[in-house]
Order: sequence, then structure tokens, then C-alpha cells
Amino acid sequence: MSNEEEFIKGIDKLIPRPDIALEVMTLANEAECPIHSLSQKIKQDPSLLANMLKMANSAYFGHMQEINSITDIIVRLGVDTIKMLAITSASAGLLKSPQEAYNIEPGALWRHSYATALLASIIGRYGRCPSLSSLYTSALLHDIGKIILNRHLQSACLNRGEEFKSGDIIQFEQTMLHTNHARVAALLLRRWQLPEDIIAPVAHHHEANPQADNVLNCQIVYLANYLTESIGIQAMEPDNYFYRLKETDTNVPQISYFNDNIEAIITEFFEKFNESSTLEFN
Ligand SMILES: [Fe+2]
Ligand SMILES: [Fe+2]
Repeated sequence: MSNEEEFIKGIDKLIPRPDIALEVMTLANEAECPIHSLSQKIKQDPSLLANMLKMANSAYFGHMQEINSITDIIVRLGVDTIKMLAITSASAGLLKSPQEAYNIEPGALWRHSYATALLASIIGRYGRCPSLSSLYTSALLHDIGKIILNRHLQSACLNRGEEFKSGDIIQFEQTMLHTNHARVAALLLRRWQLPEDIIAPVAHHHEANPQADNVLNCQIVYLANYLTESIGIQAMEPDNYFYRLKETDTNVPQISYFNDNIEAIITEFFEKFNESSTLEFN
């Protein structure tokens, strides 16, 4: 049994397989997303449906009239929005458990994951990425391995009298547990039978130039994670962001349309991220 499998063992108790959420993500990521089947699937999970309606009625979407059903969401907000809402709502519950070993405040992993997904999807749109939904899903789930490793990292730290404060988390996990959260996440998502084009960017999200299929999506998720993580998303003005980007750009993979549109991309990201504080995720 590999080291990663050891950590996945018994994972169903910690994160029960979110059957409907996974089916929703898989359906939403199909090229010809069957909206009827997607709606049927969402209706099977009352809490998913309730969460989506709550998000659809947030000030973010600016609708005066109340949205009461899946059909309302499709008619008023469009097919792409229902996919985004379904994927976001389906992931929210998975990413909210505590992350003490990583020195992350409750809720911070979810905010970071959402920011990464938002930024990745804007970068992907500029690059005319063919699979924006799968890019969005990979970016939302990229750090799910931290939820799996949290407890193990906590006891390893306790045994060795160490603590993660800041720095290279992959290196730290590797030293303490002989694996890392990207590898463990990839194994979990494979076990959950998500498509490989969602899994690869999760598996490689700490490698600037990975040897992988779907290398563009991998680089975009790397870049979005790198930017939201290393530069931060809290109380940061866009101008400061550009300055920090220039300072640190040796780690940024060379994606030409990103470099050419950096100001527009970062400005749109900040606008949307600030507006989405009115989205209510449960
Ligand atoms: Fe990560
Ligand atoms: Fe991350």
C-alpha cells in the first residue's frame, strides 16, 4: 500500500463520499452539459438546492425578484451560472472543516479555494480555454488534500515538537509525512472517479512546469494558486498586487496571454472577488 493510500484509508468517515455533489460536478463538466439531468440531480439534494438558491438570490447577482427554483436560475442567470453555482455549492461543504495543522483560520481554506477558482476561470477565459468548468472545479478542489492530511500532520507535529508557521508547505509535509496534499488529493479524486482533466491540475498545483496532460489547465491552476497564496487576497489593492507580481515573477509560468492582459485580469478578479462577499456559501 502506497503512503498516500495509507492516508486515504478510512477517509469515508472523515469526508463521506459526496455522491450527488460529485455527479453534479461530473455532469456540469460535460461538454454538452445535459441541463435537464443536471436539474434533476440537484433536486435530489435539498441542501444543495437550498444553497444554490441562496447564492442565486445574493446581491452578487443583483436580482430584485426572488429566484425560487432551478428553472428560475436557468432562465434569469443562464446555463453557465447554474454550472458555476452547482460546482461551487457542491464543493463548499467539503472545504469547511478545520485546518489547524496548516495554521489556517476556519473558513480561510474555503475563501482561498474560491479566490483561486475565480482567478483561474478569468485567466482561462482570456486564454479561450476549452474547458472552463473543469478548470474552475480543479481550482476549487486543489487543496482538498489538506483536509485529509490535517489530522495526520497535527499528530506528526505533536510527536516531533514542530509546528508549521509559514514557508514551503509541500516540503514540510514531505518531511513530516513523506507525501504531500497534492498527491493525496489526486488519489482521493481518482477514487471518487472524477475525470482526469479535473484531477491533473490538482495533482500538479505546486509545479510551475509540470510534465502532465492538460498542461495549460495545470499551469493556470498553479498560477492562480500561487497568486492568491503568495501575494494574498485580503485587503490588497490591485496596484500593490502588480508591484508584488513583478517582484516575484521568477515563479510565474510563462503564459503569454496572461502576461499581455495581466492588468485587466487582476482588476476583474478584484472586482468580482469583492462583490462575491455577498454570496452566501453554506
Ligand atoms: Fe496547495
Ligand atoms: Fe492553495
